[in-house]
Amino acid sequence: MRRTLIAGNWKMNGSLEANAILLRGLQAGAGSAEADVAVCVPAPYLAQAQVALAGTGIALGAQDVSAHASGAFTGEVAASMLQDFGCQFVIVGHSERRTYHCEDDALVGQKARAALAVGLTPIVCVGETAGQRDAGRTGEIVSAQLDAILDALESSDIGRIVVAYEPVWAIGTGKTATPEMAQEVHGLIRQRLASKNPAAAAGVQILYGGSMKPDNARELLAMPDIDGGLVGGAALKAVDFIAIIEAAG
Ligand code: 13P
Repeated sequence: MRRTLIAGNWKMNGSLEANAILLRGLQAGAGSAEADVAVCVPAPYLAQAQVALAGTGIALGAQDVSAHASGAFTGEVAASMLQDFGCQFVIVGHSERRTYHCEDDALVGQKARAALAVGLTPIVCVGETAGQRDAGRTGEIVSAQLDAILDALESSDIGRIVVAYEPVWAIGTGKTATPEMAQEVHGLIRQRLASKNPAAAAGVQILYGGSMKPDNARELLAMPDIDGGLVGGAALKAVDFIAIIEAAG
């Protein structure tokens, strides 16, 4: 039985002051959740979030990680550094990293490997653009992204990752995949995972991301292969994020 995971991706939002308010709201409301809960914060705020979330049951995550373990990589953050601040999760391959930082599947696979090497759980993002969906290429694109990333991993690692299906056209647009559209892709993702490691695939949490809100979370999360959400905008307001967590319960 897979547990539901609701992970917030704050993206490049926040300040010490705004975070303190948001984290206090989460402490108050998310503690007794039936779902697993995590927040992926900007790297400079990891220490602040680590202290604020201690003992709350809310896990901490980062939004990106270097593919390298250490060394002359100015500006990059190593997986071991994220671990130092108590991170359990790190997002890899978000479409914003792919679009604005030219990350490809091979690099995303290396980042997932770097995370796994220190015991972090990578949240591996895949998803098609509007043009690719309109051209009927969703399955082909998502399968190719996932297969290339999985090729960088040992098959025994398949059970140690989380996958997020984030259709690019649904991110920050207010357009959401219907539960049926999302389930179709989630089912495909599980098949691809099973082709690498049949035993582990059934246990992998596959999250949906893309304009998940309190009013659509319940119907998305009711689908058999949707095991949680990767939430952007709605994770920045404690009441909305908590409402999504409650919908998961
Ligand atoms: P929104 O929830 O703002 O659409 O963002 C989704 C996302 O990109 C989460 O990683």
